[in-house]
Amino acid sequence: MLEKLFINCTSKCYRAIFTFAVIMVATFNPLPYTLAGEPLDSLVDKAARISLEHLAASVNEVSDTTLFPTYGTKDLKWQLKPAEDWTAGFYPGCLWYAYELSNDQRFEHWARQWTSSLEEEKNNSGTHDLGFKFMCSYGNGLKLDVKLEKSDYKNIILAAANTLAERYDSKLKCLSSNWDMKPEKNSCPVIIDVMMNLELLFWASENDGPAYFSDYARNHAIVTARDFIRPDGGTYHIVRYDKNTGAVINKGTLQGAGDETTWSRGHAWGIYGFVVAYRYTKEKLFLDDAIRLADYFIKHLPEDHIAPWDFQSDIKYRDVSASCIVTSALFEMINYIKNDSLKNYYKSEAEAMLSSLCKAPYFNGNKNTNCLLAHSVQFLPINSNVDVPSIFADYYFLEAITRYRQMETHL
Ligand code: GLY
Repeated sequence: MLEKLFINCTSKCYRAIFTFAVIMVATFNPLPYTLAGEPLDSLVDKAARISLEHLAASVNEVSDTTLFPTYGTKDLKWQLKPAEDWTAGFYPGCLWYAYELSNDQRFEHWARQWTSSLEEEKNNSGTHDLGFKFMCSYGNGLKLDVKLEKSDYKNIILAAANTLAERYDSKLKCLSSNWDMKPEKNSCPVIIDVMMNLELLFWASENDGPAYFSDYARNHAIVTARDFIRPDGGTYHIVRYDKNTGAVINKGTLQGAGDETTWSRGHAWGIYGFVVAYRYTKEKLFLDDAIRLADYFIKHLPEDHIAPWDFQSDIKYRDVSASCIVTSALFEMINYIKNDSLKNYYKSEAEAMLSSLCKAPYFNGNKNTNCLLAHSVQFLPINSNVDVPSIFADYYFLEAITRYRQMETHL
């Protein structure tokens, strides 16, 4: 509509006045589209429709309900892994979001099938990623009120929370992570990604699990806020603690470009994790940390609003997964911000990110593929799955779309 109005301004002078007025309105009340662009609602509708088509087709591509899409190949087919992989919850999660977006019973049926294949993982004490696995799959199913399996779903999530809680170290007051490439003597590694698994403990403590699970999760978030955030708002990926004394041995990265750089997906897990910690505790510290990390993320974005894989690396790949995670997190975070202009600022930033995600070269619009988004990076330093689709980018993209549509008003 703005484009039509602009074209109808006959003189240069009126056009200049009109342009100035639009810039002023956009500055003080940012609109989710640009003069030359398609309205965000329409981009989102189109992306949602195509995503549902891709997801319905992916069921035939994957076919075996005990296997789960992880990363795409260069020719945009899904690589499949069994339930042990840390990413296994995301595909059932995508199917649950597809059901929520479409109300199409086929998605509910498929979501149940891939969800139930994860059940045995509830006893897997070798991973810190049970939150990802169970909240994205069983958690989303429960949220959508899957009647028949409701009590089973709840009990399975509670069992997974019990297993995750075993990782809590009462001296360090946090959950240990399950891997390190450069372990030190007596060291306990903790990575920022673990923030994403706190939701499982918070949720369990509010749903008939032990109340102290919430203390575990809260303490872990406090330790992360204390030790992982640099003065400029950037983040470390890993902190190694001395198991005996609790002292920090060193800080650095596993998946990022360097020990003093900020790996964008790790940073995104931090933002999302602090937002969830605030959701459950309502403690200002966690919202402040989410905002601090979000400010760093936004400040370091290139013009198209899609994060590089590492904010300081000279190797210039984007990682859409980081942007999907943060877009979704910001759509939740704005609900907790009272100041209207700040709320509007983060909302417009999230909308700018979502707008880019819905378009080429990121959204695989008309391509012959079932992967929704191109250009994720799993682990660049070991050259693993660089610049390919990832199932977690698709999951947080669908969540961001769902959250965008659920907002009461669009700016
Ligand atoms: N370590 C999980 C991730 O790649 O984000």
